[in-house]
Amino acid sequence: MLAAKTATAAPWSTDPYSDALRTGRGPLYLRRADGWLLPLDVERWCARADAADLEALRRCEGAVLDVGCGPGRLVAELAAWGWPALGIDVSEAAVAHTVRLGGQALQRSVFEPLPGEGRWDTGLLIDGNVGIGGDPAALLSRMSHVLAPGGLLIAETVPDVDVDECVDVHVVRVAGAHGGVGPAFPWARLGTPALLRHATRAGWRPDGQWATGGRSFVALRNRRSLRTRSSAEPPNSTAVISSQRDRKSSPERTVADL
Ligand SMILES: C[S@@+](CC[C@H](N)C(=O)[O-])C[C@H]1O[C@@H](n2cnc3c(N)ncnc32)[C@H](O)[C@@H]1O
Repeated sequence: MLAAKTATAAPWSTDPYSDALRTGRGPLYLRRADGWLLPLDVERWCARADAADLEALRRCEGAVLDVGCGPGRLVAELAAWGWPALGIDVSEAAVAHTVRLGGQALQRSVFEPLPGEGRWDTGLLIDGNVGIGGDPAALLSRMSHVLAPGGLLIAETVPDVDVDECVDVHVVRVAGAHGGVGPAFPWARLGTPALLRHATRAGWRPDGQWATGGRSFVALRNRRSLRTRSSAEPPNSTAVISSQRDRKSSPERTVADL
């Protein structure tokens, strides 16, 4: 199992989030300075993958990187299917939880060097994780270098609205709390039309969209060509099996040597 740690301090490493993952319970919110609250669905994240999750997972191809894996229900589900999957998350509690569930996880920001850069077949940005970094253009561009050319990105969007916003937030436990623990950090919220607009500009081609269980998802294809491989990728790395062939999962694919 893989549970390395970096020294990077992160807003999601503060107590309210770690405590909620340990207990499996909210309430927990992202709170803007003006009091606006976005509830975080901790109970669902700490439960088994639900029907909407499973529908997204069944679309995955090859080696799967779950970015912002949280407590790891998706990585654990893929591991149980025998599919190669790695979760990354800046939260130590999230990584520990994922590993406890039987998934592989690494404490790492998506903006730091990653194992197998440029070779992942599928990337996941689920549960609002297109918000990571508060700059969708930067995140989508980064993902296009993390995934293989032609790779599949499955992203969850805010359902039913064309929201496209970036806000500074704190993670808080109590709705009425002022401020929060640690510094405010930027977070983005995107509806499907906004995600498609950002994605097209960042080198992605739309490859499907669907809604289920009150949630909405978009599939994108990486248009990056082989000639623009990430400079962070080790030249002769065998870390993650990747090619244009056989993108569906196969038993010989593994992340064990990442
Ligand atoms: C909205 S929660 C999603 C939780 C998750 N998808 C789940 O199933 O529980 C966002 C997650 O992204 C993680 N995160 C935030 N910034 C990150 C970054 N730069 N790189 C990787 N993970 C990050 C947080 O620690 C948190 O676990």
